Amino acid sequence: MPSNIINRRFALTAAALLTALAIAGCGKQDAATPAASASAPPPPAAARVLVVGTDAAYTPFESQNDKGDIVGFDIDVVKAVAQKAGLEVKFVNTPWEGIFNSLDQGDRDLLVSAITITDERRQTMDFSQPYFDAKQLIAVKSDSPVARFEDIKNLKVGVQNGTTGDEVVGKLLGKSSTAIKRFESTPLALKELEAGGVQAVVADNGVVVHYLANNAAGGFKTVSDASFPVEKYGIAVKKGNAELLARINQGLEAIRTDGTYARIYASHFGTEPKQAGK
Ligand code: ARG
Repeated sequence: MPSNIINRRFALTAAALLTALAIAGCGKQDAATPAASASAPPPPAAARVLVVGTDAAYTPFESQNDKGDIVGFDIDVVKAVAQKAGLEVKFVNTPWEGIFNSLDQGDRDLLVSAITITDERRQTMDFSQPYFDAKQLIAVKSDSPVARFEDIKNLKVGVQNGTTGDEVVGKLLGKSSTAIKRFESTPLALKELEAGGVQAVVADNGVVVHYLANNAAGGFKTVSDASFPVEKYGIAVKKGNAELLARINQGLEAIRTDGTYARIYASHFGTEPKQAGK
């Protein structure tokens, strides 16, 4: 056997070994262990696994599959961001009602939950660069006369408690109106629409569209209204956690420029993002 082939074989085996070492090193992320080889990943930014809170009842952004895994667009975005930023993350299902508090208390390191960046929320937490554009959308029964937002003024309206949907409906009907039925989750509000307990639901467009597409039997239609502002989703960190925020923003930038974001977007929404999520 000519020696150059033997050398090549040796080189291939050595390369395979190094790759195996590098992969084995990945899971550990132990800062005390020296890198296994020049090709091993850099040591992680955070010495511990960061806990990501998400209200996993918000398909296609976050939900729990049959195996109990938390999956969705937001989850894929944060996983990709974490990989770029050298962070290790785990997702913990966290009810919307206590989600901001869990960040403040330090029970969660970051939140991804289709959270709209608002001035009010900015007072108590910090947000990454926006990663998704959304709008409110009205869901009504197919035979409903509702044609615009104003038309729901005298109806019973379902919202998820404490969301931006709750906020816009509160402005139209009055915050303390008894016609607003506040639910713990958006799917519960939509179920109530199906059952006839409310005549309209106002929630984020992505979730409403997805729900309707998967519940044809519900007999719903959607009504959009030009008065609804564009909302931007951001990843939230505890107020003042500038180091983590900077890493998340770097990760977001990296997944936008290398096409990962567009790939994740297409895998959940079937189309390319209009402006790479900016
Ligand atoms: N975007 C809306 C808001 O920030 C609704 C988000 C609800 N998210 C969820 N996972 N339940 O208020």
